[in-house]
Amino acid sequence: MTALRHYLQFKDFTRDEYDYVFKRAKWIKDKFKRYEPYHPLFDRTLVMIFEKASTRTRLSFEAGMQQLGGSAIYLNTRDSQLGRGEPVEDAGQVISRMSDLVMIRTFEQEIVERFAANSRVPVINGLTNEYHPCQILADIFTFIEHRGSIQGKTVAWVGDSNNMCNTWLQAAELLDFHVHVSTPPGYEVEPERAGLYGTDHFRQFADPLEACKGAHLVTTDVWTSMGFEAENEERMKAFADWCVDAEMMSVAAPDALFMHCLPAHRGEEVTAEVMDGPQSVVWDEAENRLHAQKALMEFLMLGRIED
Ligand code: CP
Ligand code: NVA
Repeated sequence: MTALRHYLQFKDFTRDEYDYVFKRAKWIKDKFKRYEPYHPLFDRTLVMIFEKASTRTRLSFEAGMQQLGGSAIYLNTRDSQLGRGEPVEDAGQVISRMSDLVMIRTFEQEIVERFAANSRVPVINGLTNEYHPCQILADIFTFIEHRGSIQGKTVAWVGDSNNMCNTWLQAAELLDFHVHVSTPPGYEVEPERAGLYGTDHFRQFADPLEACKGAHLVTTDVWTSMGFEAENEERMKAFADWCVDAEMMSVAAPDALFMHCLPAHRGEEVTAEVMDGPQSVVWDEAENRLHAQKALMEFLMLGRIED
């Protein structure tokens, strides 16, 4: 029996475990590309709980679980008792007695933590207001595929200090790279959170061009995340100068990559020229959600496997 592990924040795994998971993701991806069946999770059931919308997360977990030999069940707030006030602790007890693995996309991080505390099976954070670890797992895997190790490199984060930004900061500390964050005034990384990260790994810049200087990866995300729609109008004004454009890419390292977790809004957080340009690896990044999460699910359910 593998010891019960959850994946609720990026820092839930060690650096050594990430080395293993990235290696494993590559192995699983290559095998999949050769059309070789691989069913280590035969007969296992993943339950996916969505309290927010999704295209990539749902698809990559559902397809990934099927490709590994298991099956996936989709639950949402609207059609289940979750939307009618059943306590998350009770849901954790019940759902984890009928499944082998749970993925949750919800609002406060506290909800996934409470679910996991009552779960008999591994729980994966599929995005909360605070973190999006599965996305950064895929992003770093994508960086490694294109450029090798991320250790010592610089990632420029331009835009909102949201769940993606928070997760990059955790990853930088753990995997030893640097994050340069530039947000509009009033949207900086919260001082409490910023205090968690040493200046070796994290710097804030008022000017997005300064943040991009010499960066090996420039990345951004929507100006208004899910759950914050009421702020959309004021955010559209505040973020107008935080659009990743050709000028920002021109001051980054010559071989810098551009990433975006998607969905993207061309003309808002990124120009079409950058999004669809030669430095953009957004489609590889999206595809790698599938491969990275297959390695993640295998690791949580079966532990380390020697290939
Ligand atoms: N990037 C991402 O998580 O996409 P979805 O919202 O479509 O799942
Ligand atoms: N920050 C965005 C990411 C979407 C995948 C959000 O939370 O809506």
